[in-house]
Amino acid sequence: MSLKDRLNSNNNNNEDKNNSGGLVNYSLTPLNDELRELKEQLHVLLIEKVNTTPNWGTYSDDEQKALIRQFIDFQIASNFRQVPINKSEKARLIKEIIQDTKGFGPLDPLLEDPNISDILVNGAENVYIEKNGKLYKTSVVFKDNEHLKNIIERIVSRVGRRIDEKSPMVDARLPDGSRVNAIIPPLAIDGPSLSIRRFKKDAGTIEALLKWGSMSKEIADILMAAVVARCNIIISGGTGAGKTTLLNSLSAAIPHNERIITIEDSAELNLNQDHVVRLETRPKNIEGEGEISTRDLVINALRMRPDRIVIGECRGAETLDMLQAMNTGHDGSLTTLHANSPRDALSRLETMVLYAGVDLPSKNIRQQIASAINIIIQVSRLQDGSRKLTRVSEITGMEESVITMQDIFVFQQTGLSDNVVMGTHVSTGVRPEFLKKIERVGIEVNSRIFDSSYKHSYFVKTSNENIITKSRIIQNEKNDTRKIDSVREAIQSRNQNELDILRRLKRNERN
Ligand SMILES: Nc1ncnc2c1ncn2[C@@H]1O[C@H](COP(=O)(O)OP(=O)(O)OP(=O)(O)O)[C@@H](O)[C@H]1O
Ligand SMILES: [Mg+2]
Repeated sequence: MSLKDRLNSNNNNNEDKNNSGGLVNYSLTPLNDELRELKEQLHVLLIEKVNTTPNWGTYSDDEQKALIRQFIDFQIASNFRQVPINKSEKARLIKEIIQDTKGFGPLDPLLEDPNISDILVNGAENVYIEKNGKLYKTSVVFKDNEHLKNIIERIVSRVGRRIDEKSPMVDARLPDGSRVNAIIPPLAIDGPSLSIRRFKKDAGTIEALLKWGSMSKEIADILMAAVVARCNIIISGGTGAGKTTLLNSLSAAIPHNERIITIEDSAELNLNQDHVVRLETRPKNIEGEGEISTRDLVINALRMRPDRIVIGECRGAETLDMLQAMNTGHDGSLTTLHANSPRDALSRLETMVLYAGVDLPSKNIRQQIASAINIIIQVSRLQDGSRKLTRVSEITGMEESVITMQDIFVFQQTGLSDNVVMGTHVSTGVRPEFLKKIERVGIEVNSRIFDSSYKHSYFVKTSNENIITKSRIIQNEKNDTRKIDSVREAIQSRNQNELDILRRLKRNERN
């Protein structure tokens, strides 16, 4: 669905209580002219004060905030006594000036709301948010495009990046780990544009995905077991479909005694293992030099004795090196890519290998892909904004010059009720070949779960969070899921035990 369609459908079916006429109220009523002028004057005075305060930078954040509060209080009481202002207006002015000076201005209230997953700013007057999977326009506005640009500059300068006419696009991260992209005129025609992708605080775990009904318990178990068994896995999906979140959750199944190297454009993965080396690419500098690409880092990672390489996203030439690594003993690697189906992911892989500039016949490339990759997981953002694993496919080999693939699990949508997608995951009846790998590492799987008559089971949310409810999932009470639960629990508790042992060893070493 296009952005326009999504907006229209939100405006038509608006259920959000905060929402009046498609607008979510996040800012208070605008300040009257007198107070707005007072705020601007106070702001200018404050900047002068800060610039003339020796060692301002050595004060802590809290100390700076307290000094700003004290300064504004004093100014209002002495130099601006003639301006009528009540207690709550004064508190609001102080809060907004602190937000403008120390925080991210009008974005602060949005950043404080944990239910907002995306903040999208198109110029000073159009601020949209995604909340519970739906896109809304907010009443938040910036004073003008210059104000918005200042906030963008503040965000990117905190991570040592810059944005100006010469380099008008930038990627950065907020202190809370949210990912930020900004692009300004002349590239952005209608004013600076800012996109913030936030991560749900509890998003990085399999349990969270299970709670949200993104996959069945059985699928979670099989995928975790596949990670332990060193299957090479690709997570495929569209923008914002939940690829990185799933990558993070699955990576948690990697045993703690393995050395993991993660490679990303901007570090989003948050692995809890003990032995992780995190690498981040570097963009070109102002002279157009010094770029370190994902491919450079993959090549370097191979010299670092990795047990596993986790690549945040494959976008280009690194694909060739990744496939070669997977084919030469570095199995158990995980990555994501943009594609609309597992079959489409295969053609993307093939195209991306060509970016490496080597002249390989396409049959050779396909052979490399077929022997490297075991599993492709498709994740999708459905009409109701939920994210689900819609397909788990296995690559089985080649027939002539075509890569052969079989679906193991698919999500079968049965309908829409109250704008919530209904359906269940089903098994296709195929017993995957990667099961042998799983069995080889000693994990016992109930093979009935691959039968097409098998009914998948879910974690059911009991709270009233608007994600998935019992009645909306086709349930099966009679499944014997104990055996399966024990797979997930065994992997988790084994990993926890290993972590405990490693931590104990470290503590002993220190003492
Ligand atoms: N299974 C899920 N259920 C609900 N929300 C999810 C789920 N997975 C991810 N999200 C939320 O959706 C948003 C997008 O997730 P994520 O960044 O993982 O997607 P992505 O496919 O990697 O996006 P991109 O294409 O931009 O890299 C995040 O706010 C995340 O918290
Ligand atoms: Mg991602």
